[in-house]
Amino acid sequence: MSAIEKTILVTGGAGFIGNHVVRRLVRNYPQYKVVNLDALTYAGNLENVADVADAGNYSFVKADITDLEAIRSVFAVYSPDVVIHLAAESHVDRSIEDPLLFVKTNLLGTATMLQVAKEAWQADFSGKLFYHVSTDEVYGSLGTEGFFVEDTPYDPRSPYSASKAGSDHLVRAWGHTFGLPVVLSNCSNNYGPYQFPEKLLPLFINNIRHLKPLPVYGKGINVRDWLYVEDHARAIDDILHKGSVGETYNIGGHNEYRNIDLIHLLCKLMDKKLDRREGTSANLITYVTDRAGHDMRYAIDATKLKEELGWTPSLKFEEGLDKTIDWYLDNEDWLEGVTSGAYQAYYDKMYGGN
Ligand code: NAD
Ligand code: TYD
Repeated sequence: MSAIEKTILVTGGAGFIGNHVVRRLVRNYPQYKVVNLDALTYAGNLENVADVADAGNYSFVKADITDLEAIRSVFAVYSPDVVIHLAAESHVDRSIEDPLLFVKTNLLGTATMLQVAKEAWQADFSGKLFYHVSTDEVYGSLGTEGFFVEDTPYDPRSPYSASKAGSDHLVRAWGHTFGLPVVLSNCSNNYGPYQFPEKLLPLFINNIRHLKPLPVYGKGINVRDWLYVEDHARAIDDILHKGSVGETYNIGGHNEYRNIDLIHLLCKLMDKKLDRREGTSANLITYVTDRAGHDMRYAIDATKLKEELGWTPSLKFEEGLDKTIDWYLDNEDWLEGVTSGAYQAYYDKMYGGN
């Protein structure tokens, strides 16, 4: 193997987006050492990175980003040059159930990572980078028109998005006040392999598989802008290598769907794949009480990323959805593994055990 040029510490690398980022860096950059730091909460699973676990340029360390001493020790052992910070509590419904956990992880956890990076790097910031991965939800909710751009004013409306907005502000504050080299990106809804089945697509794929009700919040008319997770990982790679320090980049698929239209498309595709009579899956659709404070529409304008760094999504949505359904159907063991134990209690609480 070639000599190590730099060490990249990825937080949350055992989660949904993190595992795709880790896999991409480990495979494409043998000259980088990739350290995956994760507390392995319900959302983090080492099986997600099992295929790179034996790579010579990969290490895993179990640590909590809110634990200052633990993070200091990780920096002392690995001396990272770059942090890609993905670790977070990430599910809006859980943030309504347990907002303080989101404040702790997303705010205190991010501040802890920033502070330790500053302590470790302040003698010489050259060649160092703190890359913060964030969400379009910080911008609030759109009406039928318009798109989020990088300088859209922040207007978060859920405990999740407010805690992510706060974490973005902390990152910019450490950049501005201490000179920490930072870069941020705000991405739209991701979908693809290894997403925990509490989020819309994997939850509905799993429920269709088991002929369980599909709980559509409210009237199903909320709009999300969907991006295949590997396209997000590639955007992070591009920003890491070609982005400018101090900048923010919006990442999105220009791929808006009303929830109910997406669900009907999913039902149609799954009836075909499972050899079921057309309409079988759609019959499972059940309208349930709306999410509290449910944002109506998110939509990203990713022009800056396209024009400055040449990034565009690689997959058409129908292709990505098809690949995603196949992955969940082919990886029943993974689904069974993550939906056992604590998942059942969560599901019963949220959806009344239906
Ligand atoms: P995820 O919930 O699947 O994974 C989060 C990971 O962070 C898990 O592996 C978990 O174990 C780890 N983690 C949680 N608390 C921790 C702690 N205290 N210390 C260390 N590790 C901890 O989330 P995801 O969907 O992969 O999202 C990753 C990042 O991307 C988040 O910051 C999220 O806000 C952001 N994001 C997600 C989306 C999306 O659609 N999923 C879109 C835009 C931005
Ligand atoms: P989700 O995957 O939780 O992502 P986010 O809330 O971060 O956008 O939800 C996507 C959309 O699907 C959102 O409008 C809420 C809706 N939804 C349902 O209708 N039913 C469900 O069971 C879930 C989890 C989400």
